[in-house]
Amino acid sequence: MSNGIRFFELFNKTKIPSVGLGTWQSEPGVVGDAVTAAIKMGYRHIDCAQIYGNEREIGLVLKKLFQDDVVKREDLWITSKLWCSDQGPEDVPVALDRTLNDLQLEYIDLYLIHWPVRMKKGSVGFKPENLAPVDIPNTWKAMEKLYDSGKAKAIGVSNFSTKKLGDLLDVARVPPAVNQVECHPSWKQTKLRDFCKSKGVHLSGYSPLGSPGTSFIKSDVLKQPILISVAEKLHKTPAQVALRWGLQMGHSILPKSTSESRIKENFDIFDWSIPDDLFTKISSDIEQARLLRGTSFVDETHGHYKTVEELWDGEI
Ligand code: A2P
Repeated sequence: MSNGIRFFELFNKTKIPSVGLGTWQSEPGVVGDAVTAAIKMGYRHIDCAQIYGNEREIGLVLKKLFQDDVVKREDLWITSKLWCSDQGPEDVPVALDRTLNDLQLEYIDLYLIHWPVRMKKGSVGFKPENLAPVDIPNTWKAMEKLYDSGKAKAIGVSNFSTKKLGDLLDVARVPPAVNQVECHPSWKQTKLRDFCKSKGVHLSGYSPLGSPGTSFIKSDVLKQPILISVAEKLHKTPAQVALRWGLQMGHSILPKSTSESRIKENFDIFDWSIPDDLFTKISSDIEQARLLRGTSFVDETHGHYKTVEELWDGEI
């Protein structure tokens, strides 16, 4: 097993850094320091989204890091995501411009459709009556135009099931480069992973630690006995083993932290590896369960998807 898994190559030959700093639930006031600390430590990939409500603060610190010559723009990989209320084709370029303006960037390295879910234009919050009929092919055409314009160097999707990704691949002129989905040792995404591999779509894993800080889920990924025992054997932490497992599985990982010591810990995963026998045990010993089920995006009356099963096409 090779050690330094620093990048994965996408179909368009761009190279996505294998570890990105997640910024979901990184609050304004602390996210800027987290991004600064991460970049100074060597992170070259920051995972953002308009809905996280913190892109403006990230933009301020990126500007300072460029001004101070800490990093060059071309050496960074910045991802952002189109929110559900901006899926109308005419709203897509406006949303990217808003994100670019907030991040103070000329282009984004990767722009993703955040969910295969649409909400009414201008709607705020997760009320069922905000849900609207989805039209991914037309939203995707607008994403392709952003790719053509160079404002998005790569385009992709997030939270797409195998079926939804396949349906998009059937109609796309520019295939999605990435599907960013929940992925950790307790949710390996075996079916989706195999499909992505067969189609040349890179899988990027969010919540690679199982989002232990998220109030509305019960996460015990880092408490799995096999992760704890492998960590003890290798003199690493369970978090590092979970992250290194992700790299060895062949997907990029997006651990979120606003603690400088944990940001450092989460990046110390390149110069060692999990031996094959222990790696196989992690991959086979842990019961599987999707943690982030997207229940706010389904509704019997108003939803494009009436059930969670429909949202994920049975992959739950
Ligand atoms: P914090 O920001 O205080 O470090 P995920 O990336 O799977 O969504 O997980 C993010 C959560 O895990 C956050 O609550 C974060 O808290 C916590 N976390 C990040 N890094 C580590 C780590 N190395 N060990 C334990 N918890 C961590």
